[in-house]
Amino acid sequence: MPETKMIIDCDTGVDDALAITYILADPKIQLLGVTTTYGNIDVDSSIRNSLSILELFHQKDIGVYRGADHAYGKDSYVRGNKSPLVHGHNGIGDVDLGTPENKEEEKSAVDFIIESARRYKEELHLVFVGPLTNLADCIRKDVEALKLVGNITIMGGALTLQGNKSVYAEANIGSDPLAAKEVFASPLHLSIIPLDATLKTLFKVSDIAHFKDLNKAGKDIYDIAHFYYVHELGGEDVGGAMHDPLAAYASIDPSVITNWFPCNLTAEENGRTIGTFQELNLEEKRHRVALDVDAKRFTKEYIRLVTDLIQRS
Ligand code: RIB
Ligand code: CA
Repeated sequence: MPETKMIIDCDTGVDDALAITYILADPKIQLLGVTTTYGNIDVDSSIRNSLSILELFHQKDIGVYRGADHAYGKDSYVRGNKSPLVHGHNGIGDVDLGTPENKEEEKSAVDFIIESARRYKEELHLVFVGPLTNLADCIRKDVEALKLVGNITIMGGALTLQGNKSVYAEANIGSDPLAAKEVFASPLHLSIIPLDATLKTLFKVSDIAHFKDLNKAGKDIYDIAHFYYVHELGGEDVGGAMHDPLAAYASIDPSVITNWFPCNLTAEENGRTIGTFQELNLEEKRHRVALDVDAKRFTKEYIRLVTDLIQRS
């Protein structure tokens, strides 16, 4: 019986897809639903990719919910030039998974998150791995509901190194800094997994080469990951960062983070994540930020669990 219920909020590109795959693979987790947003790709494609990944693993009962299609302070979403190079034109490494049979749910992402929070309380973990617009919308609508859940983990930010969207901004925070600012200023206690940790979890093609020989699902996941591992950073020898899978994994096993830094963060308009001067001397720290990770353990566990899932598919 899974101990934890989870909702993951994605801008479903490759590492988001690899996070959904991990969640399906971990017997400690029951995935209640995938909520979606824009970011790596537009929200319609994010919905389609999420449905396709769930169907690849025969999970047609897990719903996909539509969320925000653009950032606060903007009128629409424009895809960044870098995104197709890292995630492919379709967001999942240009692998064609066909048209999913399922459709998105009628309920909105925000209503699904809030209703689940009120229903499952501390049993529920929320993981946000795209721009924080949906989370900010949930906070505006019913912050008390979010206070009930067991854990809220965010993949985003960069504290001790440069961003990946700009010198200052990590992509998720930089895509909607106004939403991120509201989220960080809210009373919620947050676990934050920034680039400082995720860039230490670089997977290479060789780490997952055996997936392709297992079956069709394994070959598809291999092809999707292959595109990203070769294109995200500096090519095949460098590999690709498991940003979103690490956030989902750390939500269940926070001890994989070997240095949690307690602080009160804010997001600046340029997307920089930094501590607030006004709250520096407060005893209460709302945020814990992952600065280091046991990457070996994470890699071993991810590969073990996902290999097992693929073999069962
Ligand atoms: O900066 C990395 C993050 O941006 C990941 O969540 C990736 O999927 C993109 O959304
Ligand atoms: Ca993401």
